[in-house]
Amino acid sequence: MITKSGKQVSKIGIGTWTINKNNIDDEVKALQFYYSQGVNYIDVVLAYDDGAVLDVVAKFLKSVKREDIFVNVFITHGCEKITDVEQQIKVYIDKLGIDYFDCITLHSPVVLGFDFDDYVKEIQRLKHKYNILNIGYSNLSPEQLKQVQDRICFFEGLYNLENKINDDNGIISTCLKNNVPFYAYQPLRRNRTAKQNYEEVVFLANKYSKTQNQIIINWLVKHKNIGILIKSSKQEHIKENIEALNFEMSEKDYQLLDKFRNKEFDKIPFSYFNEDGKIRIDQIPNQPIGVL
Ligand SMILES: NC(=O)c1ccc[n+]([C@@H]2O[C@H](COP(=O)([O-])OP(=O)(O)OC[C@H]3O[C@@H](n4cnc5c(N)ncnc54)[C@H](OP(=O)(O)O)[C@@H]3O)[C@@H](O)[C@H]2O)c1
Repeated sequence: MITKSGKQVSKIGIGTWTINKNNIDDEVKALQFYYSQGVNYIDVVLAYDDGAVLDVVAKFLKSVKREDIFVNVFITHGCEKITDVEQQIKVYIDKLGIDYFDCITLHSPVVLGFDFDDYVKEIQRLKHKYNILNIGYSNLSPEQLKQVQDRICFFEGLYNLENKINDDNGIISTCLKNNVPFYAYQPLRRNRTAKQNYEEVVFLANKYSKTQNQIIINWLVKHKNIGILIKSSKQEHIKENIEALNFEMSEKDYQLLDKFRNKEFDKIPFSYFNEDGKIRIDQIPNQPIGVL
């Protein structure tokens, strides 16, 4: 995928939620393995694992050519007042040792202790001061996406076989129509989708001699035309996930997955915001449904 700043970004991106902070060297090795396999996009959220993710990514960045990597850092929890946005940017500069940002993404409007509109203005102001090449957003509602449609360069949102809200409500199609790469988080629902042994996925895995996770990845990237972020520290999983892009399924088979619905997930009352009695969108995939 090509971003608005012109950099080619791999369709599989590296997720970094839950790294093992007691084994930083192995985590760095996993990132280097991803890189050796052609993956050049990494998500970095300073709040993850009490900040240990910053140490891992800093070590990784020192071992590769900076210009080859697309680093997407997140403005996240702890953003109570407008000056905290700049403060978080300074933490990334300090900890990662970088002097420009391929992308800065708002984790979700719910992390802000002030108005979303003010964030939109503030990040535009900081764009030139800190050499931010792309501005991204995550977990926006369709209305919020509309509001920033003319300036957004990158979108990260929930999407997988069982959680199709961002397709149902037009977020994905709006992004693709406006040449904004859409990257799905929890594409494998942390390996829980495969554990359900859905008839359709098992059928396709047998037909194409692939794993269930490979069938899901292939459908998301090759058919839905979106990017995905996958976290894995295991070389055999990383290899399996990347090799999922090396085959094609028939149109009829892709449609089997397009049509797939999980009624339990579809019934969940959800919201993009913190609303009483509703599950926030990023928490939907973690609801106790099916085999855990
Ligand atoms: N913007 C947001 O609000 C938001 C929300 C959630 C996540 N994210 C980002 O998206 C990334 C991806 O989401 P995620 O980590 O929650 O979920 P995920 O990538 O769907 O799943 C990661 C889990 O699946 C396992 N896994 C990966 N490949 C596998 C394979 N081939 N076979 C079996 N297990 C496999 C990994 O374990 P192993 O290490 O053992 O392989 C890990 O436990 C995150 O790391 C984070 O960077 C963003």
